Amino acid sequence: MKSKDGILNAAGINTRLAHLGNDPAAYHGFVNPPIARGSTVLFPDAQTLVSEDQKYTYGTHGTPTTDALRDMINTLEGSAGTILLPSGLAAVTVPFLAYLSAGDHALIVDSVYFPTRRFCNRMLKQYGIEVEYYDPAIGAGIEALMRPNTRLLHLEAPGSNTFDMQDVALVSSIAHEHDCVVTMDNTWSTPLYFKPLDHGVDVSIHAATKYPAGHSDVLMGFVSANEKHWKKLDEANRDIGLCVTSDDAYQVLRGMRTMGVRLEHHRKSALDIAQWLEGHDDVAQVLHPALPSFPGHDIWKRDFKGSSGVFSFVLKAEENRFTERSHAFLDALSIFGLGFSWGGYESLAVPVSLRDRTIAEGPTEGPLIRLQIGLEDVADLKRDLEAGFAAAGAA
Ligand SMILES: Cc1ncc(COP(=O)(O)O)c(C=O)c1O
Repeated sequence: MKSKDGILNAAGINTRLAHLGNDPAAYHGFVNPPIARGSTVLFPDAQTLVSEDQKYTYGTHGTPTTDALRDMINTLEGSAGTILLPSGLAAVTVPFLAYLSAGDHALIVDSVYFPTRRFCNRMLKQYGIEVEYYDPAIGAGIEALMRPNTRLLHLEAPGSNTFDMQDVALVSSIAHEHDCVVTMDNTWSTPLYFKPLDHGVDVSIHAATKYPAGHSDVLMGFVSANEKHWKKLDEANRDIGLCVTSDDAYQVLRGMRTMGVRLEHHRKSALDIAQWLEGHDDVAQVLHPALPSFPGHDIWKRDFKGSSGVFSFVLKAEENRFTERSHAFLDALSIFGLGFSWGGYESLAVPVSLRDRTIAEGPTEGPLIRLQIGLEDVADLKRDLEAGFAAAGAA
């Protein structure tokens, strides 16, 4: 079978997504890798067993299926190595455990995914790590927050729910002057729209549950590290003992094959709806980085190749009627489901609470609603949202 490696290096993203990680010659010509279920791997003799001198040694350390997915992610991220974890949240917590020790100080962006904050406030503090939240718009001001024991800077851009942008390259370079590892939750963009390691980040994190899986039927996280930080991440994960099943890795690999075309559809539909909402009488504000009205738009335009399908808007409501109006809006939707997560084929809506924020407090003039725009037809989604606005107005 002909090797495609040379061609793929120079190929477009959809060609790469269609072929990376596949090695038909190794599996009798079958296009996809097998689902290798297994804990035990046999060795041919005692010497090979004691030296563990063969490619696969035990189920937790990888299988041909998980390797196919990891190879693809490493190529897309430009990383030295990737670990696969059973959820996106674990993809944030494992690197924190890998790189932080008692007595360290960690800087976490204030617009971080809430369960990440909960892990920091409970588990990291319990293990003697000091956590401080910073303004996503801090830029060069991050220098003033650096202490001799600051060891980790965590970014999420756009931030959860309010989509605050960050100057990734600037804060990363300052953090490196202080010998900090820089981690970034890049779930919103996927490596198709932003490659963190190209902008100075050391460790790129994804909830693969979202766009990579793409069908709301599997949970997974990816963590990809550069050469300097890979060994520690890999060792920590072996120590902790987390891994994913080959069945789940196969599902995510299957999702990745179509991620480019799905993401382009999410992008176009979400932007169309965001622009439409911006001109809507019942909307006070739309928070979407690709809209020129958005405060972080210039940074988004400079650094990002695209925008995905999740954004928020502020519903107009009198000060004491936020809950009634937003619940009436949500209850009137029928195509949009009410439920957590995003990145699947179906549209979702959730009310957003920013109670946890300490610095980036977000809009206050009305209730905030987050939309995940799925793969349905935009006209149908707009009709559904109009039903929501009508019900909110009547509440
Ligand atoms: C930005 C971000 N990171 C991480 C996660 C966690 O992913 P999972 O649901 O797979 O734990 C989520 C989930 O919503 C998320 O939005």
